[in-house]
Amino acid sequence: MNIAVFASGRGTNFAAIIRAVKKGKIKASLALLVCDNPKAGAISRAKRADIKVALVKREDFSSKNDFQAKILQHLAENNIDLIVLAGFMRILSPELVQKYQGRILNIHPALLPSFKGAQGIKDAFDYGVKVTGVTMHFVDEKTDHGPIILQEAVNIEEDDTLESLEAKIHKLEHRLYPEAIRLYTEGKLKIIDRKVRISPLEKIL
Ligand code: GAR
Repeated sequence: MNIAVFASGRGTNFAAIIRAVKKGKIKASLALLVCDNPKAGAISRAKRADIKVALVKREDFSSKNDFQAKILQHLAENNIDLIVLAGFMRILSPELVQKYQGRILNIHPALLPSFKGAQGIKDAFDYGVKVTGVTMHFVDEKTDHGPIILQEAVNIEEDDTLESLEAKIHKLEHRLYPEAIRLYTEGKLKIIDRKVRISPLEKIL
């Protein structure tokens, strides 16, 4: 199975996925990094791990459609089976989502459907909730929306700062993302009536 990771930033989730593939926890090939930001840390991580990079900058295209058509071309050329969004800060076009329906995973740093958007950790912290967490889900046509695969909670303690909360969330993300990809690649996830069923004999790590 060929995986394309989409990232726009630091790429720490990407790094966790690379580690899981190297250790053999995920039996698939990281065939491509799709990145829209030439300064993204994810690019150097890909180069160090010998993973092909498709740098596709939005400003190089006159329309969003052309931009995403280029991404679709890279996906086709590299025979991509699964798309993994790891901090890709652009909304995918309906065509792309439709073409890879049920084959796009996303991570969100809050317990969806709460605190959607680009700053889920800060929004939860500023709101003052006592519990937040991480969500792994399939992507559908709406943003930060789609059948939920895994969720885990993180308590916000009295002495937590935004920075300490971010550290807790990221640590959890780096465990949940490889686990969700493993379940997917082993065929353990089924979507029934918009809900994800995990193979009943499966023990979640
Ligand atoms: C992660 O915290 C991820 O949950 C978030 O972007 C960050 C990327 O970090 N994604 C979203 O907020 C999606 N709505 P990374 O580049 O270090 O992996």
